[in-house]
Amino acid sequence: MFAFLNGQFLPRAAAAIPVEDRGFLFGDGVYEVWRVLNGRLFENERHLARLSSGLAELRISPPDLVQPNAVIGIAERLLAESGLTEGEATFYVEITRGVAPRTHQFPPAGTLPTVYATVNRFTPADDARARGSSCVTVPDLRWLRCDVKTVQLLPNVMARQAAAERGAIEAIMVRDGIVTEGSHTNVFGVLDGLIRTHPTNQFILPGVTRAVVLEIARSLGLQVREDALTAQDLGRLDELFLVGTTTDVMPITRLDDQPVGAGEPGPVTTRLVRAFREYLDAACAAAHVA
Ligand code: PDD
Repeated sequence: MFAFLNGQFLPRAAAAIPVEDRGFLFGDGVYEVWRVLNGRLFENERHLARLSSGLAELRISPPDLVQPNAVIGIAERLLAESGLTEGEATFYVEITRGVAPRTHQFPPAGTLPTVYATVNRFTPADDARARGSSCVTVPDLRWLRCDVKTVQLLPNVMARQAAAERGAIEAIMVRDGIVTEGSHTNVFGVLDGLIRTHPTNQFILPGVTRAVVLEIARSLGLQVREDALTAQDLGRLDELFLVGTTTDVMPITRLDDQPVGAGEPGPVTTRLVRAFREYLDAACAAAHVA
């Protein structure tokens, strides 16, 4: 696989950053993960908008890469060099506050952000999707700006590991009795005929897939409300599903070792699984013209 690091394209194994990078020392940076299909970046504008707003929140000056044409150019070259212009892939970008002697406050003006990008082959978890998957609940131990996609992911790492150790694909986080989101996904429930998900605020990442799924659900005439589920609601859900760039729409049929609803992927989720896949395929169907 190829990587882009501070203006250079090189094999990923050869890419290296100085130990004083603030991403390494402080987790002082933001990242994005795009879905790529047939060499095309899915929902590029939304990912770039979130990257720009994250950089603005952290007061990191945006490098040239944070522009549609620049990012597409870099992604296309990485995909081509890595043999990923057909089929499924992901594109990762990370921008940190740069390299400077370790002190908590910002480094001197003029310190250049570190810009790293790479691509990976991707295989959607379609078997799990057909069967339905399991989740566990964990306390949401994160800071109060979960809307910023920072590389400080330790609570998410611990949560996902807890899920893995219990044979589940994802940990659903609960803060003060409110279901926020998964370690790397947004969470939706179906209860009394209504699709519900946490509203966008500082307690969740405003997921790109979440936004697309909300649009699709509304276009299908499904009843949707951006109103968080409570921990108590979880025990009486008809359906539960996760959404995310590397998850698409994933039915969850077991939660904390108990069946959800009928214990199999439900009708609303199944409709959204199909409609989302059709949308993704259509959005990335035409070969990209450079
Ligand atoms: N994670 N919530 C969190 C905490 C996330 O990290 C992610 C994405 C999502 C879903 O957002 P989107 O639909 O824009 O991918 C929700 C990426 C995939 C990751 O960390 O690998």
